[in-house]
Amino acid sequence: MKTLLLLPGDGIGPEVVAEARRVLDRLALSGLAVTEAPFGGAAIDAAGTPLPDATRAAALAANAVLMGAVGGPKWAGAPYGSRPEAGLLSLRAAMGVYANLRPVRCYPALAGASTLRPEVVAGLDILFVRELVGGIYFGEPRGIATLPSGEREGVNTQRYTEGEIRRVAAHAFALARSRRGLVASVDKANVMESGLLWRETVSALHAASFADVELVHLYADNAAMQLVRNPRQFDVILTDNLFGDLLSDLAAELSGSIGLLPSAALGAAGRPGLFEPIHGSAPDIAGQGIANPLAAILSLAMALRHSLAAPQAALRVEAAVEAAIAGGARTRDLGGTLTTREMGDAVLDALGDAC
Ligand code: IPM
Ligand code: MG
Repeated sequence: MKTLLLLPGDGIGPEVVAEARRVLDRLALSGLAVTEAPFGGAAIDAAGTPLPDATRAAALAANAVLMGAVGGPKWAGAPYGSRPEAGLLSLRAAMGVYANLRPVRCYPALAGASTLRPEVVAGLDILFVRELVGGIYFGEPRGIATLPSGEREGVNTQRYTEGEIRRVAAHAFALARSRRGLVASVDKANVMESGLLWRETVSALHAASFADVELVHLYADNAAMQLVRNPRQFDVILTDNLFGDLLSDLAAELSGSIGLLPSAALGAAGRPGLFEPIHGSAPDIAGQGIANPLAAILSLAMALRHSLAAPQAALRVEAAVEAAIAGGARTRDLGGTLTTREMGDAVLDALGDAC
């Protein structure tokens, strides 16, 4: 028996996770138990903390965790440690999910949906491998201190060990072997010591174990430019926590909408994976039933593939999403009028009844 834990969270999270749940129910997989737990702002309201102990324990005991979104204006004024986002960072750290896979594809039918010219983005297929449990997101010291002068100073620390760099880089190289065999490693080795260590460690691992994969190094500022100049030059982009956060949002626009993009966060073999749409809680449209559920549905597909030993089901879900898009299904973010539920219906129709 495998277990999938749903963490709908805040804003549009519950709306999009509900559609992923309908897709899962339609698949009617045997030997899969689905549970749900409070998380994020919803958990702050219910239990006073964004990651209640019981939710953490359930996540660590599950095979896969599907998260919707966290955060919103209601909790934005709280101290960092007790915000919804802190719950997400704690969950990522507790689960040890260091390799964050963020695929960015541009479906043929959506080549016109990007703000970039169709001939620049058509056929795009990039996989970001973002380090997720280290770097400046977690580095100590951090905080806001008052200096003797009375002026306040904000501090965050970027730090990476060789081991942290090596394990995520190995993941990226291994994935490149099943794709076009090209890894672009992104850092700021021209300015940051942690970036220099990143570059040296990635190069050494490449020479020792992955020489069959092509490796190029880019500075992060250049990577941002190249991603809009000629995004199809990229296959796998390996980068740290902060640059990965920035560049994957930028790349989302290449696909037509951030509402399309799923992610998988994976740790050591056999450990549960954490799956989440890249989009946030979108408080501006929450509760209106108009959010695009495809990122959540595609995140479910990644969970089926990477943590629930159901690769065929994953392919079926992905094919159904592609068919729905090819058939003209569009939520508002894609210039259409479908509601969240109607987009879910379009995927279910494409999925058919046969399992
Ligand atoms: C993401 C999000 C998160 C991050 C936030 C919600 C903490 O932007 O998953 O990209 O910065 O990692
Ligand atoms: Mg982000």
